[in-house]
Amino acid sequence: MPDKTFEKIKQELKKGAYKKGHYFKYFTLATLGVDKFARLRLVALRNFSDDLKMTFFTDKRSKKVLHIKENNRVSLLFYHHKKLIQLRIEGIARINTDQFQIQKSWEKIGTEDRKDYITAEAPGSTIDDPAQLEYLKEGDYFSIVEIDPFRIEYLRLKRSGHTKIKYYLSETGWKSEYLVP
Ligand SMILES: Cc1cc2nc3c(=O)[nH]c(=O)nc-3n(C[C@H](O)[C@H](O)[C@H](O)COP(=O)(O)O)c2cc1C
Repeated sequence: MPDKTFEKIKQELKKGAYKKGHYFKYFTLATLGVDKFARLRLVALRNFSDDLKMTFFTDKRSKKVLHIKENNRVSLLFYHHKKLIQLRIEGIARINTDQFQIQKSWEKIGTEDRKDYITAEAPGSTIDDPAQLEYLKEGDYFSIVEIDPFRIEYLRLKRSGHTKIKYYLSETGWKSEYLVP
């Protein structure tokens, strides 16, 4: 297994979670809508743990949460614009219900950023005037979503030759195969 590349992927994802402006700070998350349409949106990577768990924050009234509750298999897409690296990740998502962790994360969020999770109406609701958006004083809609990947497809474009590697979780741990890029 090309361990060196796997380690580099982990390092870059870690940087994405903690380094401002890193190309892996935002990723496209795909869920399957109830109408069986693929639904895509950008979210911010908030944590990447040593066991590869990826975390993002959201409003529990949002569509993506509804989708995940219906079907917890999700796809993620990261792109490193400078290194020309694409990561296509598949995993299992779960809504973290640990109140202690939710509270701890909530306390670290600044007043302005909290607004993302305390709109009076649910995200995606129709409104007459965006300037009249109302916020709740407090809200218990803030939620943490964690994704455990089971497949990572790495693609690096290079003039001298592209590299594509598939990493997948087996019963004995992560394994890999080179693929035709
Ligand atoms: C740069 C950027 C970062 C975003 N980060 C998040 C995020 O971390 N969490 C989130 O719920 N929505 C985030 N959004 C908004 C989502 O893309 C999306 O519009 C919203 O969450 C509603 O999605 P849904 O209706 O599919 O659930 C972000 C949007 C942009 C443009």
